[in-house]
Amino acid sequence: MAPKRIVLFASGSGSNVERIIRYFQDKPNVTIAMVLTNKSDAKVLERCKTLKTSALYFNRTAFARTDGLLDVLKGLRPDLIVLAGFLLKVPEHIIQAFPNKIVNIHPALLPKYGGKGMYGDHVHAAVKENDEKETGITIHYVNENYDEGAIIFQATTAVVPEDTVASIAQKIHRLEHAHFPKVIETLLTTP
Ligand code: GRF
Repeated sequence: MAPKRIVLFASGSGSNVERIIRYFQDKPNVTIAMVLTNKSDAKVLERCKTLKTSALYFNRTAFARTDGLLDVLKGLRPDLIVLAGFLLKVPEHIIQAFPNKIVNIHPALLPKYGGKGMYGDHVHAAVKENDEKETGITIHYVNENYDEGAIIFQATTAVVPEDTVASIAQKIHRLEHAHFPKVIETLLTTP
């Protein structure tokens, strides 16, 4: 059977992208078709170079146009589109073209700490501010509203009073790296 094809979107460092690429490197049933980024200087591009994975930068205009990135995406024939630290809202025409094929990872336990402005360290700062005893990750389908698609998977980690925003971020990254590739694999291999 032809390998299942993943297209990854990222806006920044890309540590999750790297984990996912490495996880599937030796697995012939899954291939990374392309990594796409909206930041021309994102560290994820360097990671892709090192990992010999194709990557492409696109600008906001191409993303918004119905004959822009959509055509590129269709040409890539993805079985799954994975948003891994991707900060732009996906336009409706792209969501509609790939129903139930776009997933996102959010660094908190949705529905808590989701929505506009809730990304990266803003999330962890809010978790600390509210003295939460636990936080975690949510992998979910992407629909037209931020962070509101059906939840696929969640995992939790404890938050202690000594935790800082940076240490919470570190715990979250550990969870993401441990679970995200496996959840993607399950989605791609479960009939
Ligand atoms: C992750 O915590 C992800 O959940 C969030 O952005 C971060 C991206 O990290 N949306 P990286 O670029 O994969 O290192």
